[in-house]
Amino acid sequence: MASCFFKDVSARHRKHGQLVAFPTVSRRLPGAATQESQDVSKRAFVTGITGQDGSYLAELLLGKGYEVHGLIRRASTFNTARLEHLYVDPHSADARLFLHYGDLSDGTRLVTLLAEVAPHEVYNLAAQSHVRVSFDEPEHTADITGTGTVRMLEAVRLAGIETRFCQASSSELYGSTPPPQSETTPFHPRSPYAAAKAYGYWITRNYREAYGPFAVNGIMFNHESPRRGETFVSRKITRAVAAIRAGREEFVYMGNLDAIRDWGYAPEYVEGMWRMLQADEPDDYVLATGTGITVREFLEISFGHADLDWENHVKFDDRYLRPTEVATLIGDPTKAREKLGWQATVDGRALARLMVNADIEALEHASTPWIDEVRLDSWPTPTTHGTAPL
Ligand code: NAP
Ligand code: GDD
Repeated sequence: MASCFFKDVSARHRKHGQLVAFPTVSRRLPGAATQESQDVSKRAFVTGITGQDGSYLAELLLGKGYEVHGLIRRASTFNTARLEHLYVDPHSADARLFLHYGDLSDGTRLVTLLAEVAPHEVYNLAAQSHVRVSFDEPEHTADITGTGTVRMLEAVRLAGIETRFCQASSSELYGSTPPPQSETTPFHPRSPYAAAKAYGYWITRNYREAYGPFAVNGIMFNHESPRRGETFVSRKITRAVAAIRAGREEFVYMGNLDAIRDWGYAPEYVEGMWRMLQADEPDDYVLATGTGITVREFLEISFGHADLDWENHVKFDDRYLRPTEVATLIGDPTKAREKLGWQATVDGRALARLMVNADIEALEHASTPWIDEVRLDSWPTPTTHGTAPL
């Protein structure tokens, strides 16, 4: 690895101002160190910070006293909803969360940013992460989820920084290889997403072997939360339960109910990634609960928790099937437990109840969506039509 330059860039950031500068919370975060013991000497760079995991990871790292730099995509609407609770006045002198515009398709920008920030730890969480969507957008998925990983690794190398690198790898790599799946189980990807993640996994290992950086793969099984994207099956179900319970909807349309997944609670998984980067040696680890349940059982538990019978409210729609499905993912997290002391404490059944509770509460806080009407006589009368989300 080239020589490191851990300069203190935070002063420069404040002087020139970031495109987006979020100061950190002034209140104590969950798991936060005490004010006296907070160590602000570490900087982390997180891609995918606006996603489910990025949001929890930012919260965890800020709580541990890190300065956190996140990559966000320019969008025509705000895409920082999962980070809003971390916001305080940007004029605050102790700002520790900084967001930078960039994209995993733009390698030059990544080099510039990594050279400027010179992070001690890099978490590459950004991806086109939806398996079903990857069949619609295979080339984009390859570019961001696959090639995006080597752009990040090259950016670290070309920036000449010494940093620890964590790649968000996936249990989708195992595809049709039967469970239990561990670090030594052969891969058999079953989607463009999984194939792209396989490239990300191997290029991370290749850079570790070729150039010697501290680079690791977290091979993570499905992990969910109230911050989960609404089109993943767990959240789709728990949001539907809340809406049906409130009388706002009657049915939810689903695909394959026989699939088995090892669902865990997302905050535990980001903590696992952090542990991987604190280890003495770089290595690859499975993060999983070790138990699997079917989508059908997730439905039963979720609807049952709200005193509803799922069979009265679930209909089949083949648009939610995939051309090639992954039948069963159940992880063996022994290595992470033994080497990192990491263990999941929330399984899929407990998670379903936790998420239903959260979505019922979220609905109570939801406001009615509003949009203006065009004030032109020549404007056609709007009709409501469209396709259901994935
Ligand atoms: P997520 O909620 O879908 O978040 C994905 C993040 O990537 C978002 O911040 C998104 O930004 C960003 N992103 C997408 N395309 C980008 C691009 N071209 N340039 C820069 N950023 C881009 O995913 P997640 O559930 O948090 O998962 C985090 C990572 O872990 C992903 O790599 C995923 O594949 C992997 N993983 C997840 C699981 C799981 O069960 N959650 C399991 C194994 C592996 P926007 O907000 O602007 O869209
Ligand atoms: N999304 C969705 N929507 N999935 C459905 C539906 C539906 O209406 N009906 C059934 N399923 C089934 C899918 O076919 C799949 O077998 C299972 O529910 C889980 O689907 P998702 O929640 O979309 O997740 P995933 O397992 O395909 O992928 C997630 O986990 C991977 C780790 O194993 C994503 O987070 C990936 O990014 C991650 O790598």
